[in-house]
Amino acid sequence: FSEELEIVDNKMGEVQGVPLPEATCEIWEQIYNFQAREDDILISTYPKAGTTWMQEIVDLIMLDGDVKKSMRSPCFVKVPFIELYPKPMPSGVQAANAMESPRLLKTHLPTQLLPPSFWEKNVKIVYVARNPKDCMVSYYYFYKMDQTLPDPGTWDNFFSMFMAGSVTWGSWFDHVLGWWEAKDQHQVLYIFYEDMMENTRREIEKVMRFLGKELSEEVLEDIYHHTTFQAMRENPMANYSSIPSFVMDHSVSPFMRKGVVGDWRNHFTVAQDEIFEKEYWRRMEGTNLTFRTQQ
Ligand code: A3P
Repeated sequence: FSEELEIVDNKMGEVQGVPLPEATCEIWEQIYNFQAREDDILISTYPKAGTTWMQEIVDLIMLDGDVKKSMRSPCFVKVPFIELYPKPMPSGVQAANAMESPRLLKTHLPTQLLPPSFWEKNVKIVYVARNPKDCMVSYYYFYKMDQTLPDPGTWDNFFSMFMAGSVTWGSWFDHVLGWWEAKDQHQVLYIFYEDMMENTRREIEKVMRFLGKELSEEVLEDIYHHTTFQAMRENPMANYSSIPSFVMDHSVSPFMRKGVVGDWRNHFTVAQDEIFEKEYWRRMEGTNLTFRTQQ
């Protein structure tokens, strides 16, 4: 990164009504026509649901628990983010195309925008969902620290943006509901952040079985220890500290921020909680998808 590159593009565009970074919109045809391979593994999430945590877990499972190999490169290099185009760096599509199989890939796209080739190739997808209140708080801090996103303004302002679905990658409700439906037709393992917090070992084993792997207790224990919040916060390959501060400013808020369930209580006012609950039950009526907002 040279100094003249220190002007970061934080403009947003839209694809089929979903707000996405402008650079993503510019190459949307390429992204939508992305060619998945049968042995790809895709991690799909709404932003801030625990993507990086799951990335580390899946990578280690694929590597039979080889911690050294899992630290071969930063998480954003070893796992291409297919719809991201961090100009002047290569796009996620280019990075993925250049990668040998088996590939681990990342997306935040809602189901209706996922490149169809993932469905056609019957790719295994691990979806992580996090309760919307904590997701919103986490996203607010991320919006502040990540200079590629527009200034979120005050918490009150961000709350309204999130509720309206006008944040980047769109509505949390559409996202979790779309993927909840997709799991009945495709190879989608739907995992909850709150379950991972409650019993990480159990969820790691679930993912292992879904991926068709058989690992010893000892290896699973190594994976568990290497992917705790504490371990990842100190791991320069997992904590995004190698991204220059004019892109991600960890002094505003670290990427590995708190890693807890229920931080929303420190941010939501009583009035906001009321507005939220009303909208939540309106949107979630008729689904058997449920969330926990406390541990
Ligand atoms: P907080 O901002 O609430 O701390 P993503 O990777 O999807 O961007 O999600 C980031 C969120 O996951 C952050 O939430 C981060 O702290 C949390 N996280 C990352 N690794 C974690 C881990 N090992 N255990 C618990 N939470 C983790």
